[in-house]
Formats: sequence, structure tokens, C-alpha cells
Amino acid sequence: MNILILGSGGREHSLAWAIKQNPKCDRLIVAPGNAGIAMLAECAAIDIMDGAEVVAFCEENAVDFVIVGPEAPLAAGVADATRAAGLLTFGPSAAAARLEASKAFTKEICDACAAPTAGYARFTDAQAARAYVQHHGAPLVIKADGLAAGKGVIMGMTLDEALEGINEIFGGAFGAAGAEVVIEEFMEGEEASLFILSDGVNTLPIGTAQDHKRVGDGDTGPNTGGMGAYSPAPILSDAVLEQAMAEIVRPTVAEMARRGTPFEGVLYAGLMIKDGHARLVEYNARFGDPECQVLMMRLGAQALDLLLACAKGELANAQVNWADDHALTVVMAANGYPGTPEKGSVITGLEALPEDSFNMVFHAGTATHDGQIIATGGRVLNITARGDSLKAAQARAYATVDAIDWPGGFCRRDIGWRAL
Ligand code: AMP
Ligand code: GLY
Repeated sequence: MNILILGSGGREHSLAWAIKQNPKCDRLIVAPGNAGIAMLAECAAIDIMDGAEVVAFCEENAVDFVIVGPEAPLAAGVADATRAAGLLTFGPSAAAARLEASKAFTKEICDACAAPTAGYARFTDAQAARAYVQHHGAPLVIKADGLAAGKGVIMGMTLDEALEGINEIFGGAFGAAGAEVVIEEFMEGEEASLFILSDGVNTLPIGTAQDHKRVGDGDTGPNTGGMGAYSPAPILSDAVLEQAMAEIVRPTVAEMARRGTPFEGVLYAGLMIKDGHARLVEYNARFGDPECQVLMMRLGAQALDLLLACAKGELANAQVNWADDHALTVVMAANGYPGTPEKGSVITGLEALPEDSFNMVFHAGTATHDGQIIATGGRVLNITARGDSLKAAQARAYATVDAIDWPGGFCRRDIGWRAL
């Protein structure tokens, strides 16, 4: 079959890598792709935010299956457009993607299905929000309601920080995403992510992971899109996973179906776990980046069968063939990230690296220029490895990191520390 993946990050490179290994995949196209993706798939320069353009491209290229990677095209209704054109699609409708695009909507769903999550209040008025904070006191978490590229959450550990967060969001720091503010109870515990396929009715957990959000070693410095991840997440034991499925995920999927907006795609549940009990921090309506890279490293070619079963509404009969393995990915970012990253620096040493089912370098912000690989974004490479133990995967990944010559980039040296 001919498959189109929308996106250009390490997430999409890892999806392409896994899918390419499945004999069902004849032709693989990624739009817009990047320099690493171009080594294993065709790249197409189309506007992935434009549903009509994506549909026209699919019709011209006899595409059989469309996979939407990032949240922005989902929220813009690109999966609605491809489904309406009769194309088999992996990725939720815009209505279902509200589970990511609106934090207030997610809270409404949690209320409706009694899913455990942080207590909260919603505000469209700064004065009322400030009064609420004054009354409750810190710590509180202040969130812009809408999509803010992972930056719309402010930890109000002190009263001043909480009030400052309200000013920032209502002051327009996140544009329209900040028209409404959600103020949440601060939850203590350890965070982990659970990835679940949903065909609208049936659910199938396909892996757990832990991310490293802060830019610096020891979880210091500003937040990023994620500096590294590993799978599985030991904190998400079978018992916690089943509790999260029973109390959070299955009720959410049932509530979305009841409302006539079934969730069809991958649900990424960010969980806070304390004393063996998980509460929902947030949902995303797509794979995590870099969490997808470790999931794909572990799933390999079967990823395509799972995504197809999800898109066809056949998850009731699907199952994951697990190996007893671990995967870890280290993000290499351009100097300056998560502020303004330096662009254009040259990366060498990539050609000599092993690329097999134990070692892969997934590209994010890269391009080819005069025959060389250059950095074009903040997060640039995902050095990913698999092993019998997390320690083995970590050692493999850092051995590869050390073989890359890129003075313009950096990475954390402690990915995996929490589980090790
Ligand atoms: P979100 O974008 O909602 O996942 O928030 C980003 C990060 O902020 C999460 O991954 C958590 O580390 C933290 N966070 C969000 N909400 C809460 C909460 N209610 N309590 C504690 N930490 C939170
Ligand atoms: N790594 C966090 C995310 O994809 O949202």
C-alpha cells in the first residue's frame, strides 16, 4: 500500500522507519519530512495544515493510508478532510483532538466520566482569576487553555509566580490560546506517559514512557519539548496501568463516543502517579516527541499493523507482540535551544554510525546543504537505542552520541536517571 505520513520531526522519522520495515508498505511518502527521512522515504513539499491540499496530493499519488503526526494539523481538521474524502486515516477529528487543543474541554470530559485529575477552576477574566489565586494560595498550576506548543503551563509555586502567570497569559503571551485560563491544584508524584490506540470504541495500550522536559542535567533549567525518553516506564506497573485504563482512559473514550465525537487515533495520557495511583495531568491527541521514537524502536514493523487496525476500527482483535526490551533516546539540540537555536551548523560523523534494530539516529530539525547535514531547528537529532536492559540501551545511545561531531549542538548526559 501507499502510505503518507504528515510531519517533519523525529516522531515522523521513527514512524517512517518502523512502517518501512513492514512488507505491506510499498511506497512511503512523508510531508514535508527532513534530511534523515529523505534517506528512507520520498519527501513531498505540501502544506500539511491545508486539508484540501493533502486530499488532492493523496488522490494524485494513489495514497491508501494517511498518518497525521503533529497536533496542529489535527486541530485544524486535516484528518476530517482526509476521512471525508474516503481516505483511510490515522489521527483524530478536530472535535476529538480537543482533548489536546483545550485543557478546559479535557477537564469537562474528566468531570463527566469521573476520571481522577487535579481539581481546577476556569477563568476568562483576569481579576476573577487573581482573586481565586489569592484565596487558594500557592502552589497552583496556571494554564493557557489552548495549544501553546507545550509552553502554556506556568508552575505557580509561590503566590507571586501564580499571579505573574495569570498576567502573562491574559497579557497575550500565548495569543488566542490564552483567552481562557485553567487554574489547577498542584499534584505531587512522578510523571509518566501512557500511549493508547483507540478506534473510537476499543482501546489498546501500546507502551509507556518517561520524558525529560527540562533542558539541563538533573532536571534543571527551562522546559523544552523533551530532551530524551525511555520505554517502558517502570513506575507504570501493570497494576497502575490497569487502574489508569479503567478509571481514566476507557471512561474518556466512552464519553467521547457518547458525545458523537469518537476519538480515533493515539491517545497520549500524561499521568501523575503517587502511592500507586494515577491521575490525569493532560491528554495529547498524537504520539509524543521524543516518546514515539522509543515506542517505534520497540514495536518495529508491527506498528503499521497496529495503526491500520486502529484506523479500520479493528482494534478489538489487535494485540501487541512485546519483546522484553528497553529503548532510550537522547535528544541533541542546537546551541541556544530552548531559546533561539543557532541554525546552519554542520553535523558530521553520521554516515559511519550503525543503523539497525538496536541503533537508530532519528532526525528532527535537519536539512541537506551542499552535501552536508545541517541543523535547521531546536531539537535536531534523536539518538535512539534498544537493549535487554535500560542500562544497555543507555550505554548504546551515549556511545553513538560520542561518535557524532557537532560543535553546534548539545544534549543531556543523564537520560534515564530516574529509572536507573
Ligand atoms: P501539560 O502541558 O498540561 O502536560 O503540563 C506540562 C507539565 O506541567 C506537565 O508535564 C507537568 O510536569 C506539569 N503539570 C501540569 N499540570 C500539573 C498539575 N496539576 N500538578 C503538577 N504538575 C503539573
Ligand atoms: N514530549 C512531550 C510531547 O510530545 O508533548
